[in-house]
Amino acid sequence: MATWIKVVATEEIPSMGSRKVVIGKEEIALFKTKDGSIFAINNICPHKQGKLSEGLVHGKVVTCPLHNWDIDLSSGEALGNDSGCTNVYESKIEDDILYINL
Ligand code: FES
Repeated sequence: MATWIKVVATEEIPSMGSRKVVIGKEEIALFKTKDGSIFAINNICPHKQGKLSEGLVHGKVVTCPLHNWDIDLSSGEALGNDSGCTNVYESKIEDDILYINL
């Protein structure tokens, strides 16, 4: 059963940037891409736990600030020759408010 948690107003997530939120024990990175799409993924890189919210957003990818792994924002999967996956959260927007399904 879905448990939708009200998180932030979408305008509080910078375009081509990110915002970190903590819900319970989960540290979640929210990303907004150039086209306005929003993604919510676990803030921990699958390589060595870099903070993905401090990474560089390009296309629908974030580059980890520690060792430059590229992580697909829609799947949480490492791209290229790297392998690993971080958790992706289902999200929805209602009245310009972002909700995450935990
Ligand atoms: S911790 Fe993210 S690439 Fe190494």
